Amino acid sequence: MRILVIGSGGREHALVWKLGQSPRVSKIFAAPGNGGTHGEGAINVPVAADDLDGLVALAQKEKIDLVVPGPELPLTLGIVDRMREAGIPCFGPDAHCARLEGSKAFAKEMMLRARVPTARSAVFADAEMAKNHVVKVGAPLVVKADGLAAGKGVVVARDSQEALQAVDDIMNARAFGAAGDRVVLEEFLVGEEASFLCLCDGTRAVPLPSAQDHKAAWDDDQGPNTGGMGAYSPAPVLPDDRLEEMADLTIRPILAELAKDGHPFVGVLYAGLMLTADGPRVLEYNARFGDPECQPLLMRLQGDLAQIMLDCVNGELDPASIGNSGQTALGVVLTAKGYPRAYPKGLVIKGIAEAEARPGVKVFHSGTAVKDHVLISSGGRVLCVTALGDDLPAARKAAYAALEEIRMPDGYFRKDIGNKGMRRLARK
Ligand code: AMP
Ligand code: GLY
Repeated sequence: MRILVIGSGGREHALVWKLGQSPRVSKIFAAPGNGGTHGEGAINVPVAADDLDGLVALAQKEKIDLVVPGPELPLTLGIVDRMREAGIPCFGPDAHCARLEGSKAFAKEMMLRARVPTARSAVFADAEMAKNHVVKVGAPLVVKADGLAAGKGVVVARDSQEALQAVDDIMNARAFGAAGDRVVLEEFLVGEEASFLCLCDGTRAVPLPSAQDHKAAWDDDQGPNTGGMGAYSPAPVLPDDRLEEMADLTIRPILAELAKDGHPFVGVLYAGLMLTADGPRVLEYNARFGDPECQPLLMRLQGDLAQIMLDCVNGELDPASIGNSGQTALGVVLTAKGYPRAYPKGLVIKGIAEAEARPGVKVFHSGTAVKDHVLISSGGRVLCVTALGDDLPAARKAAYAALEEIRMPDGYFRKDIGNKGMRRLARK
């Protein structure tokens, strides 16, 4: 099988790594890929993840048997529809289904229809009406740009002033462009978050083990929001024996509604959950693997990922084919200092071989490039140092010990990845 992975982050490196373990896979292309996908032996091709024409042409030229889009943008732009027209199997939802991620208003509408528990909310296309609503309901309140905003379109406003400012930024100053044509104003929820991902074949949804991301830049969940500073699986807040219940509550009803509309969901449907005192609530849907959740999840996956994805595309996913190791995997993201604000690029990275010489350790590249045979940073998130361990304390210890081996000037990482899980285990 010849595979094309679309994207250039840590998630895509993990996908290339895992797909490469399948005996059925003969060659992998990455568009555009990164230093890590190159290191796995994939062929990096400089076609951007949003260049649909270029991607279809590449898949045709290289006689690709399965396309695997990593990020949300090609999905919302309709890469699956385009590949389908060209007769090329593509593991992901069509553009209609990807609106679950591409439009928060659409996601809310579907949750209402499917009776999925979520925060109370209202959608506005007019800034003045949105502001009147803010004044009426007061704070705390969550203000969300409707469209894609690279994870930055959500403001948790502590007071009305902050909420009014957020509405202004999103709708009037157009901080996220057309993504701010509409805003969702949402009830503020309290609880612990978990990432819940299911593999979907159009009708069936099979849960992967739970994971937990760390979105804030600094320790103790302080500081600006990022793409994710580290993740681990399983998250003790959502143990294995609750996964089926969670799929019935948050994923399967959505699949049923989409199928009714003639759009069976294929790919990964990811519910961002808030586990509140009143039960689970869906904060958002993603139509793909999370980054960095994908890295620990794929470290634990024992099945043949290429076969699993092909089975999903063909509507014949076998739950028994997935297989997850009972171990814990934990990944810590190394960033360039300053991320998510301004940060330096071109930092020389050393020590990956030493880190990977440790048992159970894999270093996934997020933003790296190879220049004159030297590995350098090319993004804010640079690496995700991931380790398997028999339990959370062991995985955590192994990941942080491996990080010590990595040498990069002006690097930064959170020191508390996994701490919420450790506290929960200690309370048991
Ligand atoms: P989202 O992109 O919708 O997942 O939102 C990003 C982050 O904002 C989430 O991971 C939460 O930490 C926070 N958030 C979103 N919605 C709410 C809510 N209704 N109540 C509290 N926090 C929220
Ligand atoms: N880690 C969160 C996301 O991928 O959206």
